[in-house]
Amino acid sequence: ASVLVLNGPNLGRLGSREPDVYGSQDLGALEAALTAEAAGRVSIDLRQTNDEAELISWLYEAVDTATPVILNPAAFTHYSYGLRDAAALVTKAGLPLIEVHISNPHARETFRHTSVISGVATGVIAGFGFGSYRLALVALLTPGG
Ligand code: DQA
Repeated sequence: ASVLVLNGPNLGRLGSREPDVYGSQDLGALEAALTAEAAGRVSIDLRQTNDEAELISWLYEAVDTATPVILNPAAFTHYSYGLRDAAALVTKAGLPLIEVHISNPHARETFRHTSVISGVATGVIAGFGFGSYRLALVALLTPGG
């Protein structure tokens, strides 16, 4: 079994992008942390794209392969109805989709206070750095919550 860990725009620059907000570790370090957390129970398929169409196609892939999703939609969080509709396909198919954020968007600019994704997500974890992804994985690996 695997888990898709999907990352939206600009998250490929983690490590050098606004380290005061996002920390100094990159996606490679995130993948290593998640792989350690999974402890061989699931494989971690971590991907990043700046392309909305590609991110949507990965959500279709999750549906078609019945794979749970951890999604950091990054800036798409705040305005992409296309991504929201694709995320709804995942949860309507009965698959978990956990929205994660490294920062706490509610503690930042007003435009970040709205998520068009949350309403169709299974749950949301934000504000714990890379720990947000680890907590999402723990949630996925914990039957019954
Ligand atoms: C983010 C928060 C978003 O507001 C922002 O656009 C990002 C990253 C986070 O992980 O904290 O790119 O999703």
